[in-house]
Amino acid sequence: MDRHYTLEFLRATEVAAIASARYMGRGDEHAADAAAVAAMRSMLNTINFYGRVVIGEGERDKAPMLYIGEEVGKSKAPKFDIALDPLEGTTICARGGTNACAVIAVAEQGNFLHAPDLYMEKIAVGPQAKGVISLLRTPTANLRAVAEAKACKIADLTVCILDRERHTELIKEVRAAGARIFLIGDGDVSAAIATANPDSDIDILMGSGGAPEGVLAAAALRCVGGDIQGKLLCRNDTEATRAKRMGVDDLERIYDLDSLASGDVVFCATGVTTGTFLQGVKFYGRGRVRTHSVVMRSQSGTVRYITAEHDLPRKFSDMPNPPPT
Ligand code: FBP
Repeated sequence: MDRHYTLEFLRATEVAAIASARYMGRGDEHAADAAAVAAMRSMLNTINFYGRVVIGEGERDKAPMLYIGEEVGKSKAPKFDIALDPLEGTTICARGGTNACAVIAVAEQGNFLHAPDLYMEKIAVGPQAKGVISLLRTPTANLRAVAEAKACKIADLTVCILDRERHTELIKEVRAAGARIFLIGDGDVSAAIATANPDSDIDILMGSGGAPEGVLAAAALRCVGGDIQGKLLCRNDTEATRAKRMGVDDLERIYDLDSLASGDVVFCATGVTTGTFLQGVKFYGRGRVRTHSVVMRSQSGTVRYITAEHDLPRKFSDMPNPPPT
């Protein structure tokens, strides 16, 4: 994939972040998400490529825009698959919490798992522990393996877990093993990426979250040399049927990094609210806005943090349908 696309896709996360940041703390998850979706979609449609959304806002009948299967982009080629979450952390944004971001990952066609919108059990780590994690093992055995790979004690490890009732047993086991725990309210894509950031306090992400978020996290971890495994969790027959309809043959399969996201991948995220690795959107007045983003490419392994100052009236002056920001 030509490297200039990295900046093109970054523009899509930037506008989605700006649009949703307007709704920070205003208690309206739906409005925040809708603003991000509309802005990201209109920016994607200015880019010269043909994109097919494989991870998106949901199935066509439930999502009016950026639904799975929607075609985006301005031309017929090159052809890419798109995984996106215009607002990862809708509740975070609506409450004015930390770590809401706009996310997009792009790959050659066929390189992302077409993950249904179900839960996925996940374990993710940074590069130092690549290759030592396995969902076939107990959390304790994984903690032992990660501690050994990082040449530290289990007590030195911090495990990030979504604060959910379904994780009661997991939390109990991690505590019994002696590791530290960082409980988060939402946003496990940021948490997965944080495992690969030496400046973050998070060593491992464990527990279940959205399967689409698992694919997005895999795209980022592929770029930075981390690792992730995921297993779909179908809670009933309806979910199992949905998974099968989306092409999942083996409901027990454990997906490794390559089966979640493979090949040449680009990953972009822009902070909506300030978090562990990105600053949130700052509005200065007179249409001036600052965004903070990360852009990664798996081919080169380059990770760029980009702070951008936007003059929105000028930026969109020559666009026929400017993104709603
Ligand atoms: P949304 O942006 O769709 O609200 O997702 C936030 C999130 O916390 C994800 O990061 C996570 O994977 C998922 O929700 C967990 O789902 P649940 O809130 O149902 O436990």
